[in-house]
Amino acid sequence: MKVGIIGSGGREHAICEILKKSAKINKIFCLPGNAGTKNIAENINIDLDNFENIKNFVLDNKIDLVVIGPEKPLVEGLVDYLEKFNIKVFGPNKIASQLEGSKIFTKKICEKFNIPTAKFGIFQDRVEAGEYLKKINFPTVIKADNLASGKGVYICNNEKEANIAIEEIFDGKFGKAENLLIEEFLEGEEMSYFIISDGTNIKNFETAQDHKRVLEGDKGKNTGGMGAYSPSRLITNELEEKIINKIIKPTLKGLNEIGAQYKGFLYAGLMIVKNEPFLIEYNVRMGDPECQTILPKLKTDLIEIFLACCDKKLNELNLEWSNKKSLCVVLCSKGYPDIFKKNVEIKNLKHLKLDANNYLFHAGTKIENEKIFAIGGRVLNFVSLSDNFNNSREDILKNLVELNWDGGFFRKDIGYKVIK
Ligand code: AMP
Ligand code: GLY
Repeated sequence: MKVGIIGSGGREHAICEILKKSAKINKIFCLPGNAGTKNIAENINIDLDNFENIKNFVLDNKIDLVVIGPEKPLVEGLVDYLEKFNIKVFGPNKIASQLEGSKIFTKKICEKFNIPTAKFGIFQDRVEAGEYLKKINFPTVIKADNLASGKGVYICNNEKEANIAIEEIFDGKFGKAENLLIEEFLEGEEMSYFIISDGTNIKNFETAQDHKRVLEGDKGKNTGGMGAYSPSRLITNELEEKIINKIIKPTLKGLNEIGAQYKGFLYAGLMIVKNEPFLIEYNVRMGDPECQTILPKLKTDLIEIFLACCDKKLNELNLEWSNKKSLCVVLCSKGYPDIFKKNVEIKNLKHLKLDANNYLFHAGTKIENEKIFAIGGRVLNFVSLSDNFNNSREDILKNLVELNWDGGFFRKDIGYKVIK
């Protein structure tokens, strides 16, 4: 089989790496990929906004299955476009992807089906939003409605901070904003819950907890994710049942009612308050770096899972997982999430100790004349599986010391809630 992976991050490198294990696959293309995927796949430098070029490449190269990693092409309808040409694609269509593309779309589904979520108001103008602030308690949460790559969310401690957030969002700091949301602040512990769906059947795809803030102790600015661990310490059978019955199933039912069957990964960002799950947000893809953290635990052939989803036969598969603990630390370029240098060489990669339990996934890297350069904010993902989170983190930190890259920084405290 020939498979095409769309994307260029650590998530896509992990998908390539795990797919590589399958005897069914004889060729992987990565569009556009990174220096890590280049060792496994053929990287194809293609503009992901140009759907026609992608379609032509897939048809010309007789690719049997396309897997879409990031949210942008999903929200923009790449699945619908490719399916018109009878191309098999793993990922949700444009309507279903509104779960991530529009927070208001998701909130309306929550309202209609009684899905537990933070109370909210939707505003189209600054004055109304400003007046609403006078009636609420602080802290409060203010969000731009559009895709903002994990940014565009403000936790405001008082009216003054909230007014600044409203101004910045409507001034277009995260792209054109027609709406914003003001939400009740939920106090609890966050957890990411993943499922995979073929439109009718769903299977659990593990849990994780990520660290979104840039500084140790979960302080500082929000990032795409500085590290993660799986499983979450919060998950129990009882909580899982609540998540499935109160959140996931009603959402998929709501989508069905508007004619959208959900095929792909679905990532529920949850706040667990006194053992009750509340939906914070949906993402219509695997998380990054949660994907890198979770996939190495998968024992079932990943290609069989993707194919079962596309063929609506997920019920015939039993997903098997290793019960090891997995932890991921992200090495970033100094300055991220603000300004950072590009094209900084990374040496010493050959010195790393990698094996069946220790993985290195590239994110913002490129290779030129056999040398590896950092070109993004998040650069490398170190993942380690072991019997406990402490050992996993120790192994990663040893590798980071070996690498000794002075262009970067990382958080040493990933997983602190599960490591004494
Ligand atoms: P989001 O992009 O919606 O996931 O929000 C980014 C982060 O803001 C989340 O991971 C939470 O830490 C925090 N957050 C978002 N909404 C709320 C809320 N209603 N209450 C408390 N924290 C929130
Ligand atoms: N790690 C958070 C995300 O992928 O959105």
